Amino acid sequence: MSGETLSRSAQIELQGVCKAFDTRAGSRLALEQVSFVVKAGETATVIGPTGCGKTTILNLVAGFTQPSSGQVLVNGQRVTEPGPDRGFMFQRPTLLPWMTVFDNVAFPCRHGHGLTRQRSKAELHEAVLHYLDAVGLRDARELHPHQMSGGMQSRAALARLLIAESSALLMDEPFAALDAQTRLSMQQLLRRVVKAEGQRTVLFITHDVEEALLISDHVFLMSASPGRIVRHVEVPFGSRENYRDVVLRPEFTELKHELIDQLERLVPT
Ligand SMILES: Nc1ncnc2c1ncn2[C@@H]1O[C@H](COP(=O)(O)OP(=O)(O)O)[C@@H](O)[C@H]1O
Ligand SMILES: [Mg+2]
Repeated sequence: MSGETLSRSAQIELQGVCKAFDTRAGSRLALEQVSFVVKAGETATVIGPTGCGKTTILNLVAGFTQPSSGQVLVNGQRVTEPGPDRGFMFQRPTLLPWMTVFDNVAFPCRHGHGLTRQRSKAELHEAVLHYLDAVGLRDARELHPHQMSGGMQSRAALARLLIAESSALLMDEPFAALDAQTRLSMQQLLRRVVKAEGQRTVLFITHDVEEALLISDHVFLMSASPGRIVRHVEVPFGSRENYRDVVLRPEFTELKHELIDQLERLVPT
């Protein structure tokens, strides 16, 4: 991978972050005293019941919104607005239907308005092929989104995220709409690509415990109303190059079920 071309990797840090929203019923606290650190090059997953504030956390790190109190730091700098150091991937692939896969992946570089590194036409061509290779889509590069399966579209969206070379990747349930098999292959792909590059810091949101344990170095479990971090798990399963071996380990099943039970108890009634 072209790791050396990436800007230096980012540490993401939340310090005592509270976020209140104004509602018709008055001000409502969505996040209360949320603090955690994701070290440069690590993947951390935030998991918790619907409405606990997971997307709110990503929006704060992205700089789309500001905390009511506390602060969000990326590389020690307080986040005040969105920036090219942080890339975002949503639940839907959001590819442009009138463009080929190649052009969709090239899009952030052609239309980044200075947000991404300047590349010559030849460099851009090479970069697109490089990231299409990384996600296994080189041969599909002339297809349009409607000619592709959901999994292929998701891989194209991942290539488009990677090509912008943001050091922090903010991913909000990006694989939630995929079928189980495709989802597993996307999880493996993400982990393989991120670990191969070694420099991306990933903050990943999911409500799937198995996904969290398969892809991340750290898991933060949240409760709802207000959203708080109630548990930090340092995931002990090593490189996880072969997922089949990992999911069959009794320690994996045990931790997975323990977290699922804890999550069930946290769902607001
Ligand atoms: N812009 C907003 N205005 C008012 N309330 C919001 C806004 N964004 C999120 N919320 C509320 O904050 C809480 C957390 O939302 P969210 O972060 O989307 O949860 P999650 O992603 O964990 O499902 C929810 O109760 C939601 O209704
Ligand atoms: Mg959400």
